[in-house]
Amino acid sequence: MEKILVTGGAGFIGSNFCNINKDKYEIIALDNLFLGDEKNLDPEIKFIKGDACNLEDLDKVGPVDYVVHLAGTSSAPMFMGDGLIDGYVNSIQSFITVLEWARKNGAKRVLYASTSSLYGNNPLPLVETQEVTPINHYAVTKRTYEYSSKCYNKVFPEMDIIGFRFMSVYGPNEEAKGKFANLISQFCWDFAREKVPVIYGDGDQTRDFTNVRDVVQGLTLAIETDKKLGADVFNIGTGYSVSVKEIADALEKAFDNGIQAKHIPNPVKEDYVMGQHADISKIKKVLGYEPKIKLEDGIKEQVENLRMDRIRETSSDELR
Ligand SMILES: NC(=O)c1ccc[n+]([C@@H]2O[C@H](COP(=O)([O-])OP(=O)(O)OC[C@H]3O[C@@H](n4cnc5c(N)ncnc54)[C@H](O)[C@@H]3O)[C@@H](O)[C@H]2O)c1
Repeated sequence: MEKILVTGGAGFIGSNFCNINKDKYEIIALDNLFLGDEKNLDPEIKFIKGDACNLEDLDKVGPVDYVVHLAGTSSAPMFMGDGLIDGYVNSIQSFITVLEWARKNGAKRVLYASTSSLYGNNPLPLVETQEVTPINHYAVTKRTYEYSSKCYNKVFPEMDIIGFRFMSVYGPNEEAKGKFANLISQFCWDFAREKVPVIYGDGDQTRDFTNVRDVVQGLTLAIETDKKLGADVFNIGTGYSVSVKEIADALEKAFDNGIQAKHIPNPVKEDYVMGQHADISKIKKVLGYEPKIKLEDGIKEQVENLRMDRIRETSSDELR
């Protein structure tokens, strides 16, 4: 069985990747539990509490075939205020450390999380060939991953390093992200606690809400392809967008408990992303990706499987 190290493996996307692929691969989940939760992982998955910035922790994993690098400071608000230095150090140091470690430990390919935040308010649909100008520190770290991958791959072409610009990912196992979780989760938690969800502005802003299982599908296809991918970058999304207002309306109906979302003036004064949807033709063509989870089914599942006991204190009026 081939072996995969998943850094950030106890986090939201990482744990879904591990749980879905556990029968096909030997999976090692490494996470420092900064945000993740070991309970996200199915019990048969080997878990190492360790830091992706630390070679000694990585060495506990032993040789691998692939690395899926999802550890890092995982959203723009985490870089605000006192989080700035830690955010940069954690994200950049973990990425370079993991690349070096992966190469010396036999990895054929490293997959890593970039982000759709790189696109800012670019014209829609968002396509990989567009110029990007990161509008926040988080996006700067991800653009740094993309640039450093290209340099690294020039020197060591035997190891592919593939980036994925995830759109707005939602799905199970997001509770530990608390106030940094996707809007769908935060709205669900608000409705369930009979707390009024907050919509910024008129709610016409759109996002390409992508179920985490489709993200896992894209990552898995990149592991399984025979193609040499170099240091390429792919969007992962659905190719459709839905407004925040539509999400709130759907959840109002699903919960049917008299709670209604309220609108407030948008507190984000600069560079607020008004629209997001991905052009996914590249990942379809190169890897055979096809999004499978319809938003209405994903939301239904989210509502049916709420785990109130795991939810951390959150509020959908936090900056996002
Ligand atoms: N969720 C989204 O919508 C989305 C969109 C675009 C990109 N991404 C990226 O995808 C990746 C995974 O995101 P997520 O939503 O699962 O977030 P997450 O915060 O749930 O997962 C990240 C995990 O990494 C762990 N971690 C952080 N620093 C670490 C370190 N130095 N060593 C070991 N573990 C460490 C955290 O404890 C956490 O469990 C992140 O890089 C994020 O930036 C996520």
